[in-house]
Amino acid sequence: MLDSGRSLLERRLIIVTGKGGTGKTTVAATLAVASARAGQRVLVVEVGRDEQIPRLFAKNPKPVGYAGRRVAPGITAMRIDPFEALSEYLGLQIRVQSVVDLVLNNAAFRQLMSATPGWRELITLGKIWHLERMRDGRGRPRYDLIVVDAPATGHGVTFLDAPRVVVSAVRAGPLRRQAFEVETLIEDPERCVLLPVALAEELPARETAELVERLTGEVGVAVERVIVNAVVAEPFSEQLADLDDRLSRLAASGGSVHPELPASSTLALCASYLKSRSALNRHYVDVIGRLTGLPLTLLPQLTNGVRTSADLETLSSAFFRGADA
Ligand SMILES: Nc1ncnc2c1ncn2[C@@H]1O[C@H](COP(=O)(O)OP(=O)(O)OP(=O)(O)O)[C@@H](O)[C@H]1O
Ligand SMILES: [Mg+2]
Repeated sequence: MLDSGRSLLERRLIIVTGKGGTGKTTVAATLAVASARAGQRVLVVEVGRDEQIPRLFAKNPKPVGYAGRRVAPGITAMRIDPFEALSEYLGLQIRVQSVVDLVLNNAAFRQLMSATPGWRELITLGKIWHLERMRDGRGRPRYDLIVVDAPATGHGVTFLDAPRVVVSAVRAGPLRRQAFEVETLIEDPERCVLLPVALAEELPARETAELVERLTGEVGVAVERVIVNAVVAEPFSEQLADLDDRLSRLAASGGSVHPELPASSTLALCASYLKSRSALNRHYVDVIGRLTGLPLTLLPQLTNGVRTSADLETLSSAFFRGADA
């Protein structure tokens, strides 16, 4: 089933995940653009140390950091570094920043934190939970939508599983309370949805099906559609559907197309390559749909890559068109 993912934008939180290099960051930025086009105030969050998203909106952007910064009308970008989130959290608990700094810079404490699994995920999700609750002066949500560019799959599952693990392991206290509230948010299908990004190729197709199964089974978070990114468009119009055939016949007969153009054998090779790539992509789009049983939204492959906000506009138009992408 192919359709537009417009209803996604009505959620409070979209967590974009998928294997490395499938286009998670690109899709997160595309959703931010689509959401802003729909008149929403959107926050797009990167997790970790890298800031890729601001670069898609400006050539030499200033860092957005943990405080976040507006990168386009209606769009705020932010990067959550777990240590900064921890510093903020401890600041709220201890209230004296110099003491917080002492704790954070203490070698034994750092060692303890690096050996403690799950705290990074929990603290990051805790910050996202806090951002979801923020209200403006008129009591409306500060952000209509928060899009999270989550770590690559594998990490993505761990990322979302941390609150559940803490809730089941810790009996009482503020940590359990915080984890429980985060878990309640990410498991509420009205507010939060997880969005896997796949490529229409054999391995990514299978991995996406496994990811969907783990997320819905183990983590219990809503997954309602899959984005299939970088789908190669049909290279020829209907009237020219047999162009590769015609070119290969021409190549066999030794004919040339035009003195300015490469040899017809070269053109025939290009045409058949384009056609087979597109056919292969179509095949794996079907496979992803069948294996996951979910609706798909296709985003086209842009020939020159995704580098500017104009490219994001193109992808967000495709997102709204859905199946026609
Ligand atoms: N639809 C597309 N058309 C053309 N190029 C694309 C498209 N989507 C992504 N790309 C390019 O593919 C590369 C990987 O995309 P991106 O960085 O979004 O993936 P990612 O899943 O976030 O990667 P990582 O796992 O490293 O964070 C980038 O160079 C990006 O510009
Ligand atoms: Mg990325």
